[in-house]
Amino acid sequence: MKNTPNIKFTSAFEEDIYKGLTRNPKQLSSKYFYDKKGDKLFQDIMNMPEYYLTNCEYNIIKSNTEEIADAFEGPNGFDLIELGAGDGKKTKLLLKYLADKKVVFDYLPVDISQNALDDLEQSIKNELPTVRTKPQQGTYFKTLERLADYNSRKKVILVLGSNIGNLLHKDAIDFLKQIQVAMSPEDMLFMGFDQKKDPQIILDAYNDKAGITAAFNKNLLERINTELQGNFDLDSFSHWETYDPETGTAKSFLMSIKEQTVTIKDLELTVSFEAWESIHTEISQKYDDAVVEWLANQADLKVSTSFSDKENYYKNYIFRKK
Ligand code: AVI
Repeated sequence: MKNTPNIKFTSAFEEDIYKGLTRNPKQLSSKYFYDKKGDKLFQDIMNMPEYYLTNCEYNIIKSNTEEIADAFEGPNGFDLIELGAGDGKKTKLLLKYLADKKVVFDYLPVDISQNALDDLEQSIKNELPTVRTKPQQGTYFKTLERLADYNSRKKVILVLGSNIGNLLHKDAIDFLKQIQVAMSPEDMLFMGFDQKKDPQIILDAYNDKAGITAAFNKNLLERINTELQGNFDLDSFSHWETYDPETGTAKSFLMSIKEQTVTIKDLELTVSFEAWESIHTEISQKYDDAVVEWLANQADLKVSTSFSDKENYYKNYIFRKK
């Protein structure tokens, strides 16, 4: 295995893949799951019976629409900024309530994918024609910097889907801090956190019988094959999930089921795998109130309310500046 790159990287993807496959133990970032195929697989995951997160959050918003949406309102209306909007299924419950009540607000969905934003804008036009949508294409970080200047009226920042769970605590605190810095004193943050629960339920959600999560995980290798001229044999890797009930961390791995060598032409890299060597690809952190309060506190935020489903599988919290 070569350790010193001979080539100049032309993208963060190239550099991250190189570094991740030449370190010990091997590790790749879950942010690279999401190309066109990965987006579709994630949609399929959200529709799986085992992946309880989406239904729980949908039900929380559906049963508390009035209380949540009323908390958003400001004296001159408000801007509703959603980081990672997806298909907007859950958010539309709130948008519909606000539109029916003729509340003054703009909806600013933020996403890296212009495609996803175009689809969302079109579906809102069709279903909720009075909602003013102002899509913002870009990374969360860049958009938050820009939106910090939006302070003529209240901002409500929405982060659904337990997206924060894909970050280590240190990075989650940085993310919350960035949001906190962009907030004015009257602004609020509404965020979803998947909760600690029976470990079997968590393992089933990340290791479904139909193998959709396995295909989602392996899509990373497929991306390396197509985008960097790699030759990963997808059948020689298997998906493996663990959950540590003490820390609340679910981890995904790709296991090399045999001793093998993979070459990635564009990186001028040959990678050797021992039989049963792992590549760590994702964490999906599960929380409890104490950890959420600790994270908030570290980022100079405080929890003002929370909403949960009847089984306490999932919680949405409202945060304000401390
Ligand atoms: C996007 N993110 C919150 C999902 C999760 O639950 O960690 C991604 C996912 N990975 C496997 N299944 C779903």
